[in-house]
Amino acid sequence: MGSAKIAEGKTKIVRPYREGYALLEFKDDITAGDGARHDVLPGKGVLNAQTSAYLFRVLEGKGISTHYVGMYDERTMIVKYLKMIPVEVVLRNIATGSVVKRLPINEGERFDPPIIEFFLKDDSRHDPMLNYHHMEHLKLMTRKEAERVEEIMYGVNDALFPLLKSKGLILYDFKLEFGRLGDELVVGDEITLDSMRVREEGTGRILDKDLYRKGADLETVRKAYEEFYRRLTS
Ligand code: TYD
Repeated sequence: MGSAKIAEGKTKIVRPYREGYALLEFKDDITAGDGARHDVLPGKGVLNAQTSAYLFRVLEGKGISTHYVGMYDERTMIVKYLKMIPVEVVLRNIATGSVVKRLPINEGERFDPPIIEFFLKDDSRHDPMLNYHHMEHLKLMTRKEAERVEEIMYGVNDALFPLLKSKGLILYDFKLEFGRLGDELVVGDEITLDSMRVREEGTGRILDKDLYRKGADLETVRKAYEEFYRRLTS
């Protein structure tokens, strides 16, 4: 597709579509460390577009509003055009990643109830953590909106955790981004192995982007993304 771009990020391109809608194209790029590491992984864009579409349809089926409308082509989603909030919202079921580096929490500790964290999308500041006060001051979300976002995060977890468990997979954590459509807060962006951590039950085998973060070869990463999609949709 050669048409104009509204925005381009590290892994996706937003293009104009009909009034009120946009096209979201998933690129084959994979990045880590705020973009410090970068590769092209042929097939990844299609796999991530399909994975994200599948999971958005699951959420819609549970009554959770997402921007997903349908597929334009195999790597491009038709989405509702949202006014995106530049905040990454993370829900953690099991401790790993930044939380075990920041706090006296051990790798693999279970959070019951799950923990939710907010981060400002700002690579130059390495995505600093936010609380309700920061978000109100920066006019990102009101406290009431943040509480609504937390409710939606728990709803998404209640949909996805058991679904993955039924496939022999454990959802350690995931990140969502939200946008506004009128007064409504809607799940936007993507839900893929770039934005969640998934381990095989029992073996603990990593299936998500941590493989890439830890330096695995690209073919191992591609195979993991493919295996996840196959197991999810089987
Ligand atoms: P987190 O442990 O906070 O970060 P890191 O990957 O630096 O250890 O990540 C929690 C979850 O959020 C994980 O599934 C990856 C996802 N995530 C993103 O999708 N984008 C990001 O910029 C960050 C920091 C995390």
